[in-house]
Amino acid sequence: MSSTQGQVIRCKAGKPLVIEEVEVAPPQKMEVRLKILFTSLCHTDVYFWEAKGQTPLFPRIFGHEAGGIVESVGEGVTDLKPGDHVLPVFTGECKECRHCKSAESNMCDLLRINTDRGVMIEDGKTRFSKNGKPIYHFLGTSTFSEYTVVHVGCVAKINPAAPLDKVCVLSCGISTGLGATLNVAKPTKGSTVAIFGLGAVGLAAAEGARIAGASRIIGIDLNPSRFNEAKKFGITEFVNPKDHDKPIQEVLAEMTDGGVDRSVECTGNINAMISAFECVHDGWGVAVLVGVPNKDDAFKTHPVNVLNERTLKGTFFGNYKPRSDIPSVVEKYMNKELELEKFITHQVPFSEINKAFEYMLGGEGLRCMISMEN
Ligand SMILES: NC(=O)c1ccc[n+]([C@@H]2O[C@H](COP(=O)([O-])OP(=O)(O)OC[C@H]3O[C@@H](n4cnc5c(N)ncnc54)[C@H](O)[C@@H]3O)[C@@H](O)[C@H]2O)c1
Ligand SMILES: [Zn+2]
Ligand SMILES: [Zn+2]
Repeated sequence: MSSTQGQVIRCKAGKPLVIEEVEVAPPQKMEVRLKILFTSLCHTDVYFWEAKGQTPLFPRIFGHEAGGIVESVGEGVTDLKPGDHVLPVFTGECKECRHCKSAESNMCDLLRINTDRGVMIEDGKTRFSKNGKPIYHFLGTSTFSEYTVVHVGCVAKINPAAPLDKVCVLSCGISTGLGATLNVAKPTKGSTVAIFGLGAVGLAAAEGARIAGASRIIGIDLNPSRFNEAKKFGITEFVNPKDHDKPIQEVLAEMTDGGVDRSVECTGNINAMISAFECVHDGWGVAVLVGVPNKDDAFKTHPVNVLNERTLKGTFFGNYKPRSDIPSVVEKYMNKELELEKFITHQVPFSEINKAFEYMLGGEGLRCMISMEN
């Protein structure tokens, strides 16, 4: 007799996204309505779609990595006007709170990432509806829609000459990985950096390490097909945990005479997070967590690992302040200091958005660019 007989079985019953016609209300106070031209899929969308995250709200419109144009602005909006080219961002910058005024933080009190809120801050209501019934927002952005309404503090105004089908990836993944290394891990020239997870976020973190002058950049991934692509991103050595029968932190310690100088975790897997911390050298090593964990995960390590002078950090959006910092990251692309094309491995029209999910679930490619206009 099977152990599940007579028990309720909880299982995944994945359902693809459906495209519906919705109504998008005009922007209210301190809000802007955007016409989305391009959006791409980040693992955070897939993760919440799989409902591994917090309270699932239904129905809602996913999507948070995008590029678009301001269609109209609500009361009190002075920094943006119709026609401006923008990147919406899942975490905001009010420019007034203690976090926004601090040079060290991007965790705005008003607009920091909130995965549970499906409504606008102004009135606690949604701007999307269908037949009079509300449709919830996701991460304050909901970019899998031809039009969306976003708080002005979550919108970066960028150079109108920047191609939106490329800089779109700076709206989340690439800025996150790049900033996690450059702004948080801060490797010094000649150092050794370990990157856990070689998706777009991890490879952007590797780019950051290369820009910072790291001499060894060790990529760790369970998917061997990641390794070929990773060479274009400055990864110098590869380790697949499946090829070893001891913990990967021990393998890395042997490879690096006691541990890496910096590590950046971009997987969302709790064991990888623990390994990323335990693989840094004692005395000076710094580990940065970027991946979004599962709801019930707990980080467990022996306190001696910390006493031995290792530092554990974490970051959202690579510590960039969306409005103040992202325009200059876009300029890095415009000045050819940063390449974005190599992150965009697939392109589909909006009508085929489910293919983007299939590519990511299959570990195929990096970013899939979804074009709203065919
Ligand atoms: N903190 C933030 O601001 C922020 C922003 C964007 C994305 N994220 C998170 O970053 C993570 C990466 O996002 P992505 O879009 O690059 O995802 P992705 O799916 O493209 O890449 C993740 C990679 O990690 C690998 N991986 C998974 N488990 C692993 C393990 N145990 N050891 C080694 N490798 C493992 C996968 O094979 C895959 O190649 C996700 O968790 C995402 O939710 C966080
Ligand atoms: Zn994202
Ligand atoms: Zn603020």
